[in-house]
Amino acid sequence: ALTRDVSEAIVHCELTHHERVPIDVSRARTQHLAYEDVLRAVGCTLERVPAALELPDAVFIEDTALVFDEIAVMTHPGAESRRSELPPVEHALASRRTLARIDPPGTLDGGDVLVVDRHVFVGRSSRTNDIGIEQLRTILSPLGYTVDAVPVLDCLHLKSAVTAIGGQTLLINRAWTRAAAFRAYDLVDVHPFEPAAANALRIGDQLIYPAEFPRTAERLDRRGIKLHSVPASELAKAEGGVTCCSLIVW
Ligand code: GLY
Repeated sequence: ALTRDVSEAIVHCELTHHERVPIDVSRARTQHLAYEDVLRAVGCTLERVPAALELPDAVFIEDTALVFDEIAVMTHPGAESRRSELPPVEHALASRRTLARIDPPGTLDGGDVLVVDRHVFVGRSSRTNDIGIEQLRTILSPLGYTVDAVPVLDCLHLKSAVTAIGGQTLLINRAWTRAAAFRAYDLVDVHPFEPAAANALRIGDQLIYPAEFPRTAERLDRRGIKLHSVPASELAKAEGGVTCCSLIVW
């Protein structure tokens, strides 16, 4: 798992759907360390990409690249302020995968890309445009992946709205995307009081999940899904979730 330190500048992070509220940087760092511990507990070896303390959103490393068995794709983030985050991530991936890239005017954030086996769903969002999606399709189709664009409604990224919690099971907030796009899967709805609860990080058959959504966690528990709970409240104020804070490489 590649991770990155929380910047002091996170108080100036990009915000799209949230009001700006004070972020306790020290608490965010403590929670990020706990998250890294859980990544280790589920079997990851951690590699911290050099910090980018002047880049507010650099901790959200997921947005900078996509990793597949065959290739890694460097993105072109939709927020101009985030584009300088890429070089050290590219350096870390270059020895592990052949690299492709999304080029302007295409834009694409990793948070908008949900991979389920050979199916890649890409959120058309304020960060990811049709040109970026088409470029991704051109890169992945020859490798045998399908690439489908799906809407992102009232939230930042597709993975704010839907993530995989099992081989054929997705956790979803239907108000934030078009559920019909995922009709081939078993869908578990977030609890209505917890709209932001659809972001879970699946590594192998283990699930890392924010401690802040007990009602949805109970739904998962009832299905026999075992969760590794992590505190994620401070980075949630910066519109970050548990998938955003690492880039999983195998
Ligand atoms: N603050 C996370 C993002 O907007 O990219």
